[in-house]
Amino acid sequence: MKTALKMSAVLAACCVALPATAQEVSSEKLDAVIEAAFANASADVKNRIYQDETQAVCSKYRDNPPDELWDAVLEREQANIAYPESDVLMGDWQVAMKEANNGYGWRIGDDKPGRVVGGNCYACHQLAPDEVAYGNLGPSLTGYGKDRVIDDQLIKATYDKIYNAQAVLPCSQMPRFGANGFLTPEQVADYVAMLLSPDSPVNE
Ligand code: HEC
Repeated sequence: MKTALKMSAVLAACCVALPATAQEVSSEKLDAVIEAAFANASADVKNRIYQDETQAVCSKYRDNPPDELWDAVLEREQANIAYPESDVLMGDWQVAMKEANNGYGWRIGDDKPGRVVGGNCYACHQLAPDEVAYGNLGPSLTGYGKDRVIDDQLIKATYDKIYNAQAVLPCSQMPRFGANGFLTPEQVADYVAMLLSPDSPVNE
């Protein structure tokens, strides 16, 4: 009996110690360490270490927010979609096709001014059927335009999806390319053409 009591005392000591250790790494301390690591970074880079409201909601609810927050994400993300000044939402597929396999851009300390930021679509999607290297986090987009009726509604829906994936599906793993300033509205329109144009290799 005594031994059992001693054992439980040891266990209690062990197990109260664990949360105490965990508490030492408070979110304030963590923030301070992260901020110190980025102390000399530009304001633009520093901004990227903080979650925006949508990311915070998605983290908190593990990408499955309750209905009212889901709707709030959609509303907030839809509100930040911008369109090209020309209002042409279907641009040049050849320009996008050249960049769809390019992951260049937004590198800390290595960005060359004026160099085009790539869409990096192949990292997550299959596109042209003759490209053998592609990721599969996202669905295959091969034949995307071939299988659909191309009208203004589809062109706009495709534009909105690429500009801001979370304006369509909250907590999507797809980057918010236009909304976060990775791609310009004109570039997004080029990617729309890459997916929809009958001449694009995606629809071969
Ligand atoms: C980091 C991974 C990732 C990258 C990079 C990425 N996507 Fe996606 N994409 C996804 C995921 C995951 C989905 C499915 C969830 C969703 O619909 O948001 C998706 C969905 C889509 C859809 C909707 C497909 C459908 O059938 O509804 C389109 C269109 C699309 N992506 C286009 C693109 C284009 C164009 C690029 C490059 C500019 C790109 N994606 C880059 C992950 C990615």
